[in-house]
Amino acid sequence: MKAEHEDMKSYNIGVIRGDGIGPEVTKEALKVMEAVASDEGLEYKLVEYPHSGEHYLKTKELVSDALIDEWRDLDAVLLGAIGHPDVEPGLVERSVILGLRFGLDLYINLRPIKLYSEHLCPLKDKEPEDIDFVVVRENTEGIYSQIGGHFKKGTPDEIALVNGVYTWKGCERASRYAFELADRRKSTKGPKVTLVDKANAIRPHDIWTRVFAQVAKDFPGVETDHAYVDACCMWMVKNPEWFDVIVTTNLFGDIITDLGAMIQGGMGIAASGNIHPGKTSMFEPIHGSAPKYAGKNVACPLGAISAVAMMLDFLGETQAATRVESAISELLGSGEVPSADARSGIATDAMGDMVVARL
Ligand code: IPM
Ligand code: MG
Repeated sequence: MKAEHEDMKSYNIGVIRGDGIGPEVTKEALKVMEAVASDEGLEYKLVEYPHSGEHYLKTKELVSDALIDEWRDLDAVLLGAIGHPDVEPGLVERSVILGLRFGLDLYINLRPIKLYSEHLCPLKDKEPEDIDFVVVRENTEGIYSQIGGHFKKGTPDEIALVNGVYTWKGCERASRYAFELADRRKSTKGPKVTLVDKANAIRPHDIWTRVFAQVAKDFPGVETDHAYVDACCMWMVKNPEWFDVIVTTNLFGDIITDLGAMIQGGMGIAASGNIHPGKTSMFEPIHGSAPKYAGKNVACPLGAISAVAMMLDFLGETQAATRVESAISELLGSGEVPSADARSGIATDAMGDMVVARL
């Protein structure tokens, strides 16, 4: 990690290892990061943060506004997984994960769905070239707005309300990101952006329809398509080859990317970038803390390692990013990894070593 030139940038990377399998997969991700950085002459410093459900149980500490401000000065944050069975559901997830997303205005949640090898796919007759698309999930609005609450809670007259918030600005920047991405990807099946919403039943979703149509005018070379979210789930299973870039709401993006993870080989491999172009962004595997596998050295670290590749790409370290991505791709293509999950028979740390060996 020595800088060869004085003007070389040293990155400050925040690390939140988190709960459950989070620390184990993060360790492997950082192992790969260290290996590729030393080869490429990249310099970086890790700043560790203990925030997790476990930490909350010991200290009652959640993420404060001051901490969010501190994070603004980092180049990126790498997160393992958050969620502890003894903590009220979602409390720490909202504080840390949504705290980062909302606090740093990480308006894009970028989730590539890529099948690296046929043997990982649960769908019949689908090959790597059939499953290669990216979901651009709007990451700061929708029904995640936290605007709402309970009235007469705990009584027979209880009312629970939640507001879906869709702003022109929010839809516009997500749509524009999706079109720019499609334009860059130059996929042979497109370039194409598919808008996924539920504007038939949820009429206010037509703000997406209108924004999308307007943004599309700036990208004459990019085809447009549309699917209601229920149909999108069907197409993802039946004809995943139709998709190039999908842009969708926060909640729908959450749901369809779990489905996406399954068709690309499992939660163990899927990664995501929570991005505000040009500002501190956060990278994480999309899986949770999987408490039942914690401390057993069986969790698949490929999602976390893939998050490192996305982080390097975001930082502009394209060559390092490509090397990590290719190492994962070669490893999975080799057939040495029977499945990208806890049942692969390959230990978490051994899998990390296998990626490093292929860098
Ligand atoms: C995800 C997760 C989070 C979400 C949870 C943990 C709040 O499911 O990153 O997909 O809903 O976004
Ligand atoms: Mg999710």
